[in-house]
Amino acid sequence: MPDTLAPPDPGALRACMARFATGVTVVTYDGDDGPRGATMNSFTSVSADPPLVLISVARRARCHDQLHGKPFCVNILGAEQEALAVQFAGVPDAAEPRWTSGAGVPRLDNPLAWIECAPWRSYDGGDHTLLIGRVTGLGHRDGDALTYAWSRFGTLAESAGGIEHLI
Ligand SMILES: Cc1cc2nc3c(=O)[nH]c(=O)nc-3n(C[C@H](O)[C@H](O)[C@H](O)COP(=O)(O)O)c2cc1C
Repeated sequence: MPDTLAPPDPGALRACMARFATGVTVVTYDGDDGPRGATMNSFTSVSADPPLVLISVARRARCHDQLHGKPFCVNILGAEQEALAVQFAGVPDAAEPRWTSGAGVPRLDNPLAWIECAPWRSYDGGDHTLLIGRVTGLGHRDGDALTYAWSRFGTLAESAGGIEHLI
């Protein structure tokens, strides 16, 4: 099909996406020189059976080539873990990351939730690559969530009684 749509102004696309509130994750993996991580908010669940999740990784990120074909862990951050999000977005010394000892795939210590994945499929996503992982392990704890919207971090309190029945 011919591509007849004029490309949107990248600033306008960014402005729209800034209005889409997300959680914040650090995707961790075994790098060339030990455990590494990258902050990512383009994370979503894909399928329950088989259990699949997706991340979208910028081609220019260091982790892009290192993550390919490798297991990874999505660490969903809690409200008090903003400094880790800053650290793994490329600001050295913003935080002192601690790692869970004995985890098969490198994992942060005490994230709000973690989802460990084996590589399943990858797809071209323009200047990103979409990586789908098959869930191989997971866990969670109580606590408030770290959020990202309007180009700012925020928090969302844990609360009982949601709309689970609608989903
Ligand atoms: C809130 C937030 C969300 C981000 N989401 C993504 C993302 O979904 N995918 C991505 O490739 N980079 C994302 N980034 C940028 C990476 O965290 C950043 O490029 C990082 O330096 C990559 O690390 P690396 O180059 O060591 O792999 C995000 C940054 C922030 C602050």
